[in-house]
Amino acid sequence: MNSRSKTSTVLVVLTLGFCFLACSFLLNLWGHPALRAPVPLVDLAFIEPSTARLSAADLIKAKADTSNFECYTCHDKKNPVKIKYDTNEMIILPTEHQDLKMGHGRHNRNNNCFNCHNEKNLESLQTRDGRELKIEESPQLCGSCHGPTFRDWEAGVHGRVSGYWNRAMGGFERKTCPSCHDPHSPKFPPRKPAPGPHALHTAVASSPAEQEHH
Ligand code: HEC
Ligand code: HEC
Ligand code: HEC
Ligand code: HEC
Repeated sequence: MNSRSKTSTVLVVLTLGFCFLACSFLLNLWGHPALRAPVPLVDLAFIEPSTARLSAADLIKAKADTSNFECYTCHDKKNPVKIKYDTNEMIILPTEHQDLKMGHGRHNRNNNCFNCHNEKNLESLQTRDGRELKIEESPQLCGSCHGPTFRDWEAGVHGRVSGYWNRAMGGFERKTCPSCHDPHSPKFPPRKPAPGPHALHTAVASSPAEQEHH
């Protein structure tokens, strides 16, 4: 056979082969693998980028309602507030402040209002070393007792920084501590973990017998 007829034989064989394959696919000779169950969309709660709560700083920045921080709509500047205690030295909250959930640290060690609020000007905060701060400057207040955490926060390894890596393109915002911790009961609430990535081979990955072995 010369090389020419050899080539045409190969071409004919290939053409027939592909025709056979095309027909068998069209006629579905081997059947299809079972359809995979539809992949459910991830619950939007897991990709929600907002912080756990809105701090005074967040509210002021958003020009939202800050009436909660206007203490002198109810209190009288000339009449200093006295904290009331029960027989176990626990603070009794008046009905007007029942919405506060108190519980700072184990044994409610840090519930005394004037550890943080300034008794001489309720609308400001005070640190243990006597600095007076605006309500939105709370990180300095928290930092006066939680030094190492405050240092971490300033370095950007605790809490959250939003904005630009490249400062030339825009600024950044360091979320204040009360964006995540309620100052009156700061323990960060546990969260439900997001589901793992969807397995492509459901039959293998989700077979109960398989999982029991691991
Ligand atoms: C809706 C009215 C209202 C607002 C607003 C308000 N208070 Fe009060 N607060 C009261 C009343 C009423 C009492 C109980 C009577 C009292 O001690 O004067 C009280 C009591 C207190 C006490 C004593 C707590 C205790 O358990 O004995 C502190 C401290 C206090 N308030 C701080 C503040 C601060 C700080 C703000 C602002 C961030 C504020 N309050 C805003 C109504 C209010
Ligand atoms: C550990 C510090 C700390 C203690 C203790 C504390 N507070 Fe506060 N409080 C804060 C800070 C900080 C804010 C502002 C939070 C923010 O940025 O959202 C605040 C906000 C408030 C507000 C206004 C906003 C709101 O959450 O309703 C009231 C009213 C208030 N405190 C009352 C009290 C009273 C009454 C006590 C004592 C029973 C008390 N606080 C104890 C730190 C403290
Ligand atoms: C006057 C000192 C003082 C200030 C101001 C203060 N803390 Fe605390 N904090 C404490 C103490 C004391 C504890 C309890 C430590 C313990 O129980 O071992 C505590 C505990 C905590 C915890 C752990 C809670 C838990 O149950 O796991 C967090 C979170 C926290 N503080 C956040 C804050 C934030 C946010 C601020 C500012 C709004 C703040 N603290 C201001 C003294 C302070
Ligand atoms: C973006 C949210 C966020 C911000 C902002 C934030 N924290 Fe936290 N903080 C957390 C989380 C989450 C934990 C871990 C809770 C856990 O492990 O149970 C935590 C834990 C803590 C604890 C417990 C002990 C520890 O270090 O693990 C303290 C105290 C604390 N934070 C203080 C602060 C202070 C002070 C600031 C501000 C200077 C701050 N946090 C800002 C989210 C935040």
